[in-house]
Amino acid sequence: MATSRRRAPQPTPRRHAGRGVVKPTLMRHSAKIGAGQTGLRIMVLSGPNLDRLGRREPSIYGTATLEDIHRRLEAVAQEQGASVDCRQSNHEGDLLDWIGQAADGAAEGILINPGALTHTSYALYDAVRSALIPTIEVHLSNPYAREEFRRKSVVVPACLGSVAGFGAVSYQLALLGLIDHLRTMAQSRPIVSGTRQP
Ligand code: DQA
Repeated sequence: MATSRRRAPQPTPRRHAGRGVVKPTLMRHSAKIGAGQTGLRIMVLSGPNLDRLGRREPSIYGTATLEDIHRRLEAVAQEQGASVDCRQSNHEGDLLDWIGQAADGAAEGILINPGALTHTSYALYDAVRSALIPTIEVHLSNPYAREEFRRKSVVVPACLGSVAGFGAVSYQLALLGLIDHLRTMAQSRPIVSGTRQP
């Protein structure tokens, strides 16, 4: 962890135009700090029931709230010179709209914990697949060691990879992996006439 980096000002929560029932204090956490206009922007999406983390089956999902997780991600992103835009919804359509926004330029990559939609949502699979930006599926628990219906993700085939089973830390590991991937990809692009090609 870099300790020499100067502390940046605290993030200002950003509003966005998505629909659905949201709790503004919890559902939108945006840290643009330290990233500048050129830093990587990662959209972090969490689906149904993840707003209840901390109270929801703590023996499986841990005691950290989603707000705690978002704060940790903001700190990790800041250390990495990147930014996160963290959102949660219990409504599939919101997640689809947000993936579309990311695909249209709001982010360079996506972390998504689709909750139980992981196991059922072909719409999320289609959205992630057509977004054409690197996406990592994240789970707090290890779904493959749980009930039969959780052992299949219909979303992950559209993803670059997945991180599961490390509790709240799954999100941080996924963020570091995604940032590393995006930077590696950027470095491997050919440079023509001194300008890196898109
Ligand atoms: C989960 C696993 C899913 O099976 C479950 O429906 C969730 C949480 C996880 O993070 O471990 O809501 O995505």
